[in-house]
Amino acid sequence: MKPLPVTQETEKTLFFHNYARMPVALTHGEGCWLVSSDGTRYLDMISGIGVNALGYGDKRLLQAITGQAAKLIHASNLFLLEPQFELAAKLLDISGLSKVFFANSGTEAIEAAIKMSRKQAAMTGNNDKKEVLSLSNCFHGRTYGAMSLTAKAKYTDGFDPLLPETGMITFNDVGDLEAKVSERTAAVFIEVVQGEGGIHCLSEEFLARLVALRDRFGFLIVADEIQAGCGRTGRFFSYMHFGLQPDLVCLAKPLGGGLPLAAVIGSEKMAGVFSYGNHGTTFGGNPVACAAGLAMIEAIQADGLMEHAVKIGKMLQGGLQELAARHSQILDIRQYGLMIGITVDKEAKVYVEKALQKQVLVNATSQNVIRLLPPLCISAGEAQRCITVLDEILTEESREKAGQ
Ligand SMILES: Cc1ncc(COP(=O)(O)O)c(C=O)c1O
Repeated sequence: MKPLPVTQETEKTLFFHNYARMPVALTHGEGCWLVSSDGTRYLDMISGIGVNALGYGDKRLLQAITGQAAKLIHASNLFLLEPQFELAAKLLDISGLSKVFFANSGTEAIEAAIKMSRKQAAMTGNNDKKEVLSLSNCFHGRTYGAMSLTAKAKYTDGFDPLLPETGMITFNDVGDLEAKVSERTAAVFIEVVQGEGGIHCLSEEFLARLVALRDRFGFLIVADEIQAGCGRTGRFFSYMHFGLQPDLVCLAKPLGGGLPLAAVIGSEKMAGVFSYGNHGTTFGGNPVACAAGLAMIEAIQADGLMEHAVKIGKMLQGGLQELAARHSQILDIRQYGLMIGITVDKEAKVYVEKALQKQVLVNATSQNVIRLLPPLCISAGEAQRCITVLDEILTEESREKAGQ
């Protein structure tokens, strides 16, 4: 068979039309750079949507993957698998929590957490305690449970009926929080820093009230750390900046070092929530993905990448503030380590396309937010390159406008 051209046209003929892919056929990566089939090098400020924390080609990660693949790629959860034990122990050590469940993707971790929330509520004997709440503008995934929590028309239109007994609290609105939670609430799902929602952080006041209301009504706080976790904000979990103690934590994206892996980590209170057969997955906790995950976390710790994320994040913030002072197209900047949102005065995809032409990969979210989620190992020079290119784009745009 003749090789198929890897183009947008062929993509349309082969796949369902659910992705708006960039017109770039990638072949490999080196450090913080991705290389396309024509040899063009792109500075990667997206890292596979917050996945590739170590960039591309990290030797420790490759060794862990190839070493484990040579020994055992898959065996299922019918058996005891050492890489799972090692990664679970690491996650419990970092979080101070009690139990781990491994899945394959973020949305699967959320599904497991929804099931745990309802089951735990049922165990209290209160048959009305079913309600699972989330926050406006959130994103928790695209399977039915996770989508029901996400509940933005863009994600849910045409997919009714959604999971019953779900609802939404207005982000950072303490009054709405107080009005919505009750004895009927089984869990409140939060992203301490919303990712797809445009990089917005919960306020200390909101989180403190949430904790007080948890004490009163006995619901669970579920921290979705799928995007903000694994060190991206400068702490391993973004909730650590606030001293929050969630009952459940969902992790995915970088957890498998680029291989599909997710985890739900639970407090002692949750230890007995599942019994045999209540939940499971064939692939979850795949040994190669777990070995990769452990190598990735060890590398983050050994290289001081959380401290580095804080340092480079501040540098990017400084550079962006300076751009905002000169370019009226920038309306707002929000930066938490290497999780950065830049609100612009038009559809952010305009800038994604312009940056692509200048070999820098950025992402658009929430219509008018440019999102930066670079590898945690990005250098100061690479971060500066991104600022320089954004400056060029904004300057050219202003010149074009003035010339009209
Ligand atoms: C905060 C958050 N939760 C859940 C998900 C869903 O993860 P996945 O795409 O792995 O299913 C995402 C994905 O972007 C996310 O950012």
